[in-house]
Amino acid sequence: MMDETDVTAVVTAVKQSLKYGQTSEETIRALAETALRQHKKPKAAVKAVRKQLHSIMAPYLGDPDYATAAARLEAAFAAGDQAAIEAICRDSLHSHLSTQERLPIMADFYAQIFAVTGKPRSMLDIACGLNPLAFPWMGLETPLDFYAYDIHEARIAFLNHYFRLQGLPPLAKLQDVAHQLPTEQADVALFLKEMPRFERNYKGRGRPLLDALNVNWLVVSFPTVSTHGGRNLTNRYRDFMFQLIEGRDWPMTELLFDGELVFCIEKGAKG
Ligand SMILES: C[S@@+](CC[C@H](N)C(=O)[O-])C[C@H]1O[C@@H](n2cnc3c(N)ncnc32)[C@H](O)[C@@H]1O
Repeated sequence: MMDETDVTAVVTAVKQSLKYGQTSEETIRALAETALRQHKKPKAAVKAVRKQLHSIMAPYLGDPDYATAAARLEAAFAAGDQAAIEAICRDSLHSHLSTQERLPIMADFYAQIFAVTGKPRSMLDIACGLNPLAFPWMGLETPLDFYAYDIHEARIAFLNHYFRLQGLPPLAKLQDVAHQLPTEQADVALFLKEMPRFERNYKGRGRPLLDALNVNWLVVSFPTVSTHGGRNLTNRYRDFMFQLIEGRDWPMTELLFDGELVFCIEKGAKG
């Protein structure tokens, strides 16, 4: 029988850390419970949780200074300065490696994807990071229901701040999609550059996630080059994608960009 006091002690210790203090409590609690099944002592469990969070949160990918970026955005919107708004979005996207790598191809990336899927009126961005700040380059019309899911508190608060200023409903959610599958219905779901890490962190949960999403189109992408080694991963991740949807009768269109391999997968009518 697990001692709830130990779980709370582990959660509190991790929440107080500078590196992982912004992590959703739901995520830390689930990891703490698992760690305490393997380690009797809370101190060892805290160490195990932090190790897992290094892989899940990937803090080494980077963050903007959220308070500064939020204040700059507010001033730019108040002044109606579109060039400044786009410059701040671009700076924020640049501060996180996943979106930084996408910057040179960003407008073409979304134009090609939405040429396949059609322009969505509703969209999910799963494990979104800062990607919703690419909205000015997506060429989408409003009204748009743009749901975004992540487990980083400051990131989600910043995205909702941006959504409100941009006139979009604040639909960014602090939600661990490994434990709570998104149930919202939408035209398109983005799951960009996270599937390999997701499958590593939550073995076997990638396919059930794709199955569960209540959308017409899944857009799943992979980096074509490894973060550390510069190794080409295109063939490996293409095979991986085929494995993930094996046995499903879902037509798939591949788009290969400089640095990113994208699959647009038609699941069919939602509902
Ligand atoms: C590689 S980063 C951002 C990727 C983003 N989709 C992009 O391509 O720009 C992955 C993000 O997934 C989030 N994440 C990791 N596991 C998650 C989970 N179980 N539920 C929700 N978000 C998660 C992390 O906090 C991080 O912001």
